[in-house]
Amino acid sequence: MLTKPKGTYDVLPADSRIWAKLEQVIRKICALANYEEIRTPIFEQYETFHRDDSDSSDMVNKETYDFIDRGERKMTLRPEGTAGCVRAYVENKLYVNNKVTKLFYFGPMFRYERQQKGRYRQFSQFGLEAYGPKSPLLDVDIISTACMLLKAVGLNKIRVRINTLGDKESRQNYRDVLVDYFSQHIDELCEDCHTRLAKNPLRILDCKVDKDNPVLINAPKINDYLNDVSKEHFAKVLAELDNLGIDYVVDEHLVRGLDYYSDTVFEIEYESDVLGNQNVLCAGGRYNDLVKDLGGPEIPGVGLAFGVDRLILALANENIQIVKPKYLHAFLITLGQSAKEFGLKLIYNMRLAGLMCDMSYASDSLKAQFKEADNNNSMFTLILGEDELANKTINVKNNHTKEQVTISLDELLGYLIKNLNTCHNCGGNCHEKSTN
Ligand code: HAM
Repeated sequence: MLTKPKGTYDVLPADSRIWAKLEQVIRKICALANYEEIRTPIFEQYETFHRDDSDSSDMVNKETYDFIDRGERKMTLRPEGTAGCVRAYVENKLYVNNKVTKLFYFGPMFRYERQQKGRYRQFSQFGLEAYGPKSPLLDVDIISTACMLLKAVGLNKIRVRINTLGDKESRQNYRDVLVDYFSQHIDELCEDCHTRLAKNPLRILDCKVDKDNPVLINAPKINDYLNDVSKEHFAKVLAELDNLGIDYVVDEHLVRGLDYYSDTVFEIEYESDVLGNQNVLCAGGRYNDLVKDLGGPEIPGVGLAFGVDRLILALANENIQIVKPKYLHAFLITLGQSAKEFGLKLIYNMRLAGLMCDMSYASDSLKAQFKEADNNNSMFTLILGEDELANKTINVKNNHTKEQVTISLDELLGYLIKNLNTCHNCGGNCHEKSTN
């Protein structure tokens, strides 16, 4: 039997409805905050993600799906949305008419990672990216939009952790100090940190192995090496978060795994053990040089990405139901072949009129067909036999009131539309009265 590739999973119909609903909520939040959708290719030229030889990002170093296409071009399946988004922003010159460009995307990303709960090789991200002036208000616009989404879906057990990496000058000062400090303690650090020391010493600070190591705890803090501009930027971000009533903790060890960040970086965690150390639902920050590095003008960016798979796991763990039970307005049961054939046209016309309906296609017993209607959570069950067909009538059972009437076929549509607001689950509240 063929099976799905390791690190992937199927989203089956019941869960697909949750994904679709979440996407709908995301679109609404993006519209409220004026982010417009961008759809970029799922694969890009290798260089979009692998920008220089000294690249120290773990993700870019070992986790990308790279391949040579039939035209001998080196390609990479996108491991994240930011670089492709910047590439599209630059290539399509979106900066020409806009002071600020606010974009969002939703879609699959690919990383060759060790599979565990909340960590997959194909996963989905919802991302926001904003290009424009280096305003701290734009950082807060991004973070507050993420918080709006979490509010909208009712996920409260979250913690915003935030830090600054400072601008280039501050980071360079800090980097030098860190190299000096960690070089003196090299024997007390894990193997990976030895490599990090040479390539990206800042990443030692968020090492999971050494996280309780006093060498890390007592390491110099970025705050002492920020220049005035960087200090001011970060102070303003925090002040504006306070102003909006958004809770956060400043975490001086937060440095993020990707190499393009500068100034503000943040993560939003789900406060529960259920995802282990994969509990970061959303992460992002400011990247002031990436647009320029990908051949564009000197325009800073700031953004974030949610791991949608993780968000859905968190919602399930909190028992938060964002979708109503699936239902149909009507389900048709027939007796006899001619009733079945007539029935197909009947439901086709009802669908054209905006009713969600279906019928039994198998030649099953009445009992089996009633069960099918029940499985489809149908508000009305319509019963059409040879006699009804001859008399141009139909039997209609309201599954909420249990009332059963025989009406003429001509009246059917009008009758259903009029009576849609009585349902067997809640007397009309759970099913929307949805007709076009
Ligand atoms: P990232 O931290 O690599 O950042 O990923 C963002 C989020 O995607 C993570 O916090 C996590 O929820 C989810 N995620 C990452 N890898 C996996 C995986 N293997 N399986 C499941 N979920 C995963 C970025 O991707 C940046 N592009 C974010 C950003 C946008 N920064 C600025 N703009």
